[in-house]
Amino acid sequence: MEQNSVTHDERVKKAKLMKVFIAFAAGMAGLLFGLDIGVISGALPFITTHFDLSSRLQEWVVSTMMLGAALGAISTGWISFKLGRKKSLMAGATLFVLGSLGSACAPNVIVLLVSRVLLGFAVGIASYVAPLYLSEMSEKEDRGKLISMYQMMVTIGILVAFISDTIFSYGGHWRLMLGVISIPALLLMISVFGLPDSPRWLASKGMISKAKDILRMLSTTDEKADNELSEINESLKVKQEGWGLFKANKNVRRAVYLGMLLQAMQQFTGMNVILYYAPQIFKHAGFANTEQQMIATVICGATNVLATLIAMKTVDKSGRKPILKIGFAGIALGTFLLGVCLYMINAGFDALWISIVAVIMTLFTIASFAMSAGPVVWILCSEIQPLKSRDFGVACSTTTNWGCNMIIGATFLTLINHFGIAATFWIYTTLNILFVVLTILFIPETKGVSLEKIEQNLMAGKKLKDIGE
Ligand code: BGC
Repeated sequence: MEQNSVTHDERVKKAKLMKVFIAFAAGMAGLLFGLDIGVISGALPFITTHFDLSSRLQEWVVSTMMLGAALGAISTGWISFKLGRKKSLMAGATLFVLGSLGSACAPNVIVLLVSRVLLGFAVGIASYVAPLYLSEMSEKEDRGKLISMYQMMVTIGILVAFISDTIFSYGGHWRLMLGVISIPALLLMISVFGLPDSPRWLASKGMISKAKDILRMLSTTDEKADNELSEINESLKVKQEGWGLFKANKNVRRAVYLGMLLQAMQQFTGMNVILYYAPQIFKHAGFANTEQQMIATVICGATNVLATLIAMKTVDKSGRKPILKIGFAGIALGTFLLGVCLYMINAGFDALWISIVAVIMTLFTIASFAMSAGPVVWILCSEIQPLKSRDFGVACSTTTNWGCNMIIGATFLTLINHFGIAATFWIYTTLNILFVVLTILFIPETKGVSLEKIEQNLMAGKKLKDIGE
């Protein structure tokens, strides 16, 4: 009896350690995702001077990464289906190292652009594989928390990039800003070696006994692991896979469209516009010199990180759907009041309190996103796709994320020129109100439900909003 309980304790400890390692490695992928999103804003002015870039080329330096990410996400669907999550992560880590070193050492703008596409490819792979891998490696009770933790690493990456950019900016060291990212990239490469492959992917490739070993390693009892394996086997009975299944099966199509809708909603909240525009709002509020600007960006980055903690704490308890509704409503309110403040400022009301309210609303909007759509959309997208078409479905939703990110970036300045800054934010207000309604109508609650149960409900033709019941 005594012996047994010690063995069990040891097993629980081992399973826990393995999960911490898995979370660390996938978290590194998130960190790199964030670092690469965050780094370019600080480096661009120096790169522009160094290579004497036209504004067209500056846009290219920024957007080649998004383009690479969209391409990376589409092609990883296939790579991850054929080679598995682990090898895909390895490919991503290698590209992160090559892309960071390539852009840091670039002798001319062509090498810089090619390296940015490579980096984008790496970001596309990371944003595709890491949440999917985490969802397949975790137990239903803490799946949400693990993927929120991944999103928190994304936000930490953005924050660290802001800080490191500021530090290196004193000497104008743009090559160091870009090159320093190769260090966490190397760390990711090394840690991926120690990762087990996903049992769900192994089972889908017929490697049942390997899948069983890994499930047992991650579970606290053999019984739990074996039950999970039989549920996985059950979901593999469907004959077709990927694209074929998408064409043939209406329920699979519904899941794919739902994933794409979720990612489009996440991007059209306007979060990236707010992050981009925040320094200007802080400038109005009196944060005028470089040092104050630095404090301002760090405050935004830190708010993003801290609010993600709220999601980590609540997503497996209160559920995905309530926090998504609250989040979209919060962003609607924040962007509305921000628009009002900016309207007043532009109309000549120059009171300090208006600028302060604008700053508070900026932070409120960032926090509303970070505690909801930021993590929850990645969580849901990795949960709702049936196993046999999971790679295809997640590839479609991740590519939608990057595609919409590009659209937002490309239309923002045009919208401001056409409608003015206040009305531009009100457009986002309207969209976020619409997203509250869409969440009520279509988004399922998946808290505490196994991936296999979600799949059964979907394939049985239940309404999308009910597939987690
Ligand atoms: C989004 C990114 C965004 C980031 C901000 C992610 O979930 O996909 O577009 O920049 O959150 O924290």
